Amino acid sequence: MKHDSRELAEVQQTAQAPAASRVDLYAGIHKALRAVMSDTLLAVGRMDAHDALELAQTTQRVLQLLDLMRSHLEHENNFVHKALEARAPGSSQHIGDDHVHHVAEIDTLAESVRALLDTSGQDLDAAVHGFYRRLSLFIAHNYEHMNYEETQHNATLWAHYSDEELMGIHAELVGSIPPEEMMLVMRWMVPFMNAGERAMVLGDMKAHAPAPAFEAVLGATRPHLSAREWEKLQAALELPAAA
Ligand SMILES: [Fe+2]
Repeated sequence: MKHDSRELAEVQQTAQAPAASRVDLYAGIHKALRAVMSDTLLAVGRMDAHDALELAQTTQRVLQLLDLMRSHLEHENNFVHKALEARAPGSSQHIGDDHVHHVAEIDTLAESVRALLDTSGQDLDAAVHGFYRRLSLFIAHNYEHMNYEETQHNATLWAHYSDEELMGIHAELVGSIPPEEMMLVMRWMVPFMNAGERAMVLGDMKAHAPAPAFEAVLGATRPHLSAREWEKLQAALELPAAA
């Protein structure tokens, strides 16, 4: 993706927009996606492709990431874009077009990463490096794409919907996510939020979700927190010290 200086200035300007006090449908899930995308890219970069187990496991992680990205854009299309179009016709078109390209790129990346399993020798090294670069471009584009959604789409949503209505859309969207995908999202979202956001998400789960679901998310989160972050979470959630 090429930029002229005006486009770059726009990207920088929107990146510096002040934090909103309104309900933000994108903030949490996009932190999760930024984290899982970069972590997966780094895993591909450091992979010993000649270790069959490492190759298989890393390929699996990439495929899981691609499934998550595909599913995420479907949720946005089905719930957020539908809401945008209902009150501001045409406002989701730019990002909707991006999503069409993303689906095609996701399919290509999935095919390329599977092909690595059938490649060997020096061809494998070149193929892995080529894949690493292509994945990094996909991720780079997604970072810009998410910033556009967080600024332009949020501005439109905030102009046309109350916070109560946005929370309703969020609840409907989240209710449509199957448990396995939800667990994966929580694993990447909760550890990479700040302490206040983390306490809020898990506090809400503690109050409203079944205890085993709360325990499972807590268990998936803890290994990815520092000792200090875990202490803060324990205190915020009023967990027993031995938990
Ligand atoms: Fe999107």
